[in-house]
Amino acid sequence: MMARGKFITFEGIDGAGKTTHLEWFRDRLAAKPAVAGRTVVMTREPGGTPLGEAVREIVLHQPMDLETEALLMFAARREHLARVIEPALAHGDWVLSDRFTDATFAYQGGGRGLPRDKLETLERWVQGGFQPDLTVLFDVPPDTASERRSAAREPDRFESETDAFFTRTRAEYLRRAEEAPYRFAIVDSTQSIDAIRKKLEEVIASL
Ligand code: TYD
Repeated sequence: MMARGKFITFEGIDGAGKTTHLEWFRDRLAAKPAVAGRTVVMTREPGGTPLGEAVREIVLHQPMDLETEALLMFAARREHLARVIEPALAHGDWVLSDRFTDATFAYQGGGRGLPRDKLETLERWVQGGFQPDLTVLFDVPPDTASERRSAAREPDRFESETDAFFTRTRAEYLRRAEEAPYRFAIVDSTQSIDAIRKKLEEVIASL
């Protein structure tokens, strides 16, 4: 039997540039000797399952109560864990997810102001003690991120938020990183793509 796979998440405020590195990271990971012969499953949140993708469509575009928003994020996550993430890891695959629970703490908690204890309760309910083996946090000041976003397409309910919102979101990401430094790699995302990839190579080598 193959050893259990590892679970890696990518995080950062909108415009931090994580999407630029996702596929490259997957390919570099797959080339790692410890990963050879296994699949690296790429997935995302909200999303990752048919139900999760339907929830994504709703939370990104429909106005709703803040608690509803948090509950939907965790409902989609439960489905994602049960149907995709857990089975893949048990099978020996590695899983790379574009966002996970840290995003809920950062956006619904930091950004929107939902009390943290409610999110901690949901986190325990939905995932028990389960946490990513590694979380890569693409860290960038909100004004840099908003410049990058304005170059991109039609903004959704989160992308259209203010710099003040993203200042709080970023602060909560950094607080989560401080709370669990053993699983976080913080990447200064104001750097060039090459410099970031050099740092990511180190992160992959250290896994
Ligand atoms: P994102 O991952 O940035 O995808 P894209 O690059 O296609 O825009 O979009 C997901 C959005 O959902 C992002 O703005 C953050 C938000 N989000 C939350 O607010 N809470 C969560 O728990 C998750 C997973 C995402």
